[in-house]
Amino acid sequence: MSKSILVTSALPYANGPIHIGHLVEYIQTDIWVRFQKMCGNDCIYICADDAHGTPIMLRAQQEGISPEELIAKVNKEHQQDFSDFLIEFDNYHSTHSEENKKHATTIYSRLKENGHITTKTVTDLFDPKENVFLPDRFVKGECPKCHAKDQYGDNCEVCGATYTPADLINPYSSVSGATPIQKENLHYFFKLNDFKEMLQQWINQENLQPEITNKLKEWFESGLNDWDISRDAPYFGFEIPDAPGKYFYVWLDAPVGYMASLQQYCDRTGKSFESYWNKDSEAEVYHFIGKDIAYFHMLFWPAMLHGANYRIPTAVFCHGFLTVDGAKMSKSRGTFIKARTYLDHLQPEYIRYYFAAKLGPGVNDLDLNLDDFQQRVNSDVVGKLVNIASRCSGFITKKYDSKLTASFNDECTHAFDLAVEKNNQIKTYYEARKYSEAMRVIMALADIANQIIDAHKPWERIKEDQFKTEVHQVCSFGLNMFSLLIGYLKPVLPDLASKSESFLNIEFTWNSLYDGKPMPEDHIINKFKPLITRIEQESIDKMIEDSKMDTTPKASDPINDEITFDDFAKLDFRVAKIIKAEHVEGADKLLQLTLDLGEPTGGVQKNVFAGIKSAYSPEEVEGRLTVVVANLAPRKMRFGMSEGMVLAAGPGDKDIFLLQPDSGAKPGMRVK
Ligand code: 2FM
Ligand code: ZN
Repeated sequence: MSKSILVTSALPYANGPIHIGHLVEYIQTDIWVRFQKMCGNDCIYICADDAHGTPIMLRAQQEGISPEELIAKVNKEHQQDFSDFLIEFDNYHSTHSEENKKHATTIYSRLKENGHITTKTVTDLFDPKENVFLPDRFVKGECPKCHAKDQYGDNCEVCGATYTPADLINPYSSVSGATPIQKENLHYFFKLNDFKEMLQQWINQENLQPEITNKLKEWFESGLNDWDISRDAPYFGFEIPDAPGKYFYVWLDAPVGYMASLQQYCDRTGKSFESYWNKDSEAEVYHFIGKDIAYFHMLFWPAMLHGANYRIPTAVFCHGFLTVDGAKMSKSRGTFIKARTYLDHLQPEYIRYYFAAKLGPGVNDLDLNLDDFQQRVNSDVVGKLVNIASRCSGFITKKYDSKLTASFNDECTHAFDLAVEKNNQIKTYYEARKYSEAMRVIMALADIANQIIDAHKPWERIKEDQFKTEVHQVCSFGLNMFSLLIGYLKPVLPDLASKSESFLNIEFTWNSLYDGKPMPEDHIINKFKPLITRIEQESIDKMIEDSKMDTTPKASDPINDEITFDDFAKLDFRVAKIIKAEHVEGADKLLQLTLDLGEPTGGVQKNVFAGIKSAYSPEEVEGRLTVVVANLAPRKMRFGMSEGMVLAAGPGDKDIFLLQPDSGAKPGMRVK
């Protein structure tokens, strides 16, 4: 019987781009949803941008636009990124929406009516000049641990310590610069402890991940504290009904965004919202999230739902974090890779496959090892799988009028039957989010197919008439195996599957895979076109290089944190003469410059890679003077060492202006 399933992924914040760390979750969820749909279930996949809160308000301020403009811009970018990674939502909305306001308000009002909201007086920091309470991020000061200056009130970006604004040394308001004072303030709280019994039951249900059950038990034992759900103006969010000047804390209306997006979907399609969220709902509701936000989804959210008379989720599935080459993603190493930067160089299905090949149902972190990524995708998808089709199809097209035979020899029949038999196991693995196991079984079957094809050497035997039937059989077998395996992989590789469907003239559904029959006698296939290409080392290198460049400040970026005069005095700017300029093979943006720093430096020469190729040809810059940061530590780039930094200004592309001192300048002069 077909099931009714609602699936969500966590709502990404609307103040920054999607990066490959986010993609683990969206790819994991998308595979699961596609699998459910392929099985014939009525499954819908819902998401939205998480658009409220102080960081978003600050970001908009820094960019000189309104929060509404910022979230509209980011929403568009997010949707484009997801769609280009073949992540197919049934609806994508925003928490800053009428639907969300309605549902958040309803939930709050019901919680209040049922006695689950209380108020308490709290001591907050207050800006005496501007007469406003200051959210954590509006207070800055010296880190109490490492004494770094100008750190936010909630955590230190230098040493990573977390604290409260009251712990800061010499705190100041980032609104007015005034020293904040402490002032009593009324806050609204959600009484989590009212839901102790219900949560006790919820955390003992069997479909929770064991690691998470343990964590929940720990939290439970340390007590279910009241949750502070109000923030004072200035805040970008929804005002709390009957509490003017107070806003819902972003985490209150964020999960309600799941409902809001579903509401928009139902309004658009005529489906019933209630059939998903009413107490007696028979639908299944699953949230996919990162392990860091388990507390919100597994304690606050079910309690809020229950207290407001809604059903609770069927299960919450947590995953671990992404590391790249064994370490946290890093901007300076170029491993903080934005979704868009990845897409500029690589196909989405490469990483979809790689994540699938490594994802299990647990909360372990997942490592994207770039060498392994290239090797694994090339060997499995290109070398094993697509290779079956490319080596068999030509013979069928040229020698057998594009027709397949369905009568195999015993060996092929046996192998094909084995592949059909694995159907159930693969299905169980997908259902249980054991994707790595599913990929392992599928690739083992591809190995078997390749071994059989190898043993029959169609490329040799095609030349001899006596082998005509054998070659027809083995190539037809190969294409049937290919078809079955691509069918199994359709949730992971939807584009490849759809191209293969056109090539094979069939459509994969889980039932069609399950019927266990090869394609019928004389089934006609289309001409084979290359389905996917290998990952080249160069593409990965370029992606890393561009990710390093992504960190180069843009004109629209906010001004960096203040530096002291001493920091500034360390910079040694010199006039330099560009004595040689060359193209760099394989680099789209760089010119390689040889700079002469002139007599005062004793004739120092430096090799510098400068991202000015879009604006200048080597001939144009050779012989010119420029300003260079002469004492920058050499940095290893893909093309060699870069030993300095050339100063240029401009928005980019054709408009990059090399800062060129006037004609009286001489190489080596200090620039002040
Ligand atoms: O952690 C985050 O990125 C949050 N924006 C996730 C919100 S998920 C849901 F609750 F909205
Ligand atoms: Zn610190």
